[in-house]
Amino acid sequence: MAVVPLKEILGDAFRLRYGVGAFNIVNDLTMDAVLAAAEETKSPVIVQVSVKTAKQMGAKLIRIMFEEMARRVSVPATLHLDHCPDRKVIEDCVNAGWDSVLFDASNLTYEQNLAQTREVVAFAHQHGTAVEGELEAIKGVEDGVGNEYGGPVVALDRAIQFVCETGIDCFAPAIGTAHGLYKGEPKINFERVSEIVAAVPIPLVVHGGTGLSDTVFQQLIARGAVKINISTQLKITFADSFRTYLAERPAEYDPLKLLGSVKKNVQAMAAGFMHVFGSAGRA
Ligand code: 13P
Repeated sequence: MAVVPLKEILGDAFRLRYGVGAFNIVNDLTMDAVLAAAEETKSPVIVQVSVKTAKQMGAKLIRIMFEEMARRVSVPATLHLDHCPDRKVIEDCVNAGWDSVLFDASNLTYEQNLAQTREVVAFAHQHGTAVEGELEAIKGVEDGVGNEYGGPVVALDRAIQFVCETGIDCFAPAIGTAHGLYKGEPKINFERVSEIVAAVPIPLVVHGGTGLSDTVFQQLIARGAVKINISTQLKITFADSFRTYLAERPAEYDPLKLLGSVKKNVQAMAAGFMHVFGSAGRA
């Protein structure tokens, strides 16, 4: 299937209340594995890329690779840039034809964030690229962006004002989730999700998907938080797969067998989430 806009994928998910996984890929193998999981489960999917990976591989190369790989599967897929405070990188991705970007200006004041997000939305929309907005820094570090503490939570009316005045396409509010591995049971603010969605019907984004329980995912999705970000679990599955394969086969030197085994595990991990989120069978 052709690559589809983020708005289309999230619009359907929001209306029918199922979640769509946004998996932070790190290279060609993980992009291929995530798309294969979407094909296997007949699920729409968001291929997500951190700024660090985007800078390392280049926006253009990632876009070309994505278009070619997405063309080979029959399900809707879209390419999204994760947490990006750097407007130059946003411009590179938009100019390379990416479907969506997260402009992360959560380290700025409310007024600065609102003004700059508005500018990014105007530029991105002109090129057919969607924008995810973020007001409060999400707890934890995602590939070099963010800190352990997160930012203060903004009052509901100000958050609504931010959504309405910026024209963003999806919104990532602070709801108690965090990037990386949880040290204890996270305290999720389900009510905030419902309050925002009741005031302005916009798909919300769950950051810090790794480590949340199936019940938490399902409650968040039912309330309208339908874009679900998974990064840490992909990294763990990816790295552990190399470790295990080589430890079990010390005399094996065939790279394609090794990579095939890693892909299989990453694909199974992503497919598992797609079933939990309820996106399986929707494409
Ligand atoms: P995890 O690393 O906790 O899965 O979070 C991913 C994320 O939110 C990417 O922005």
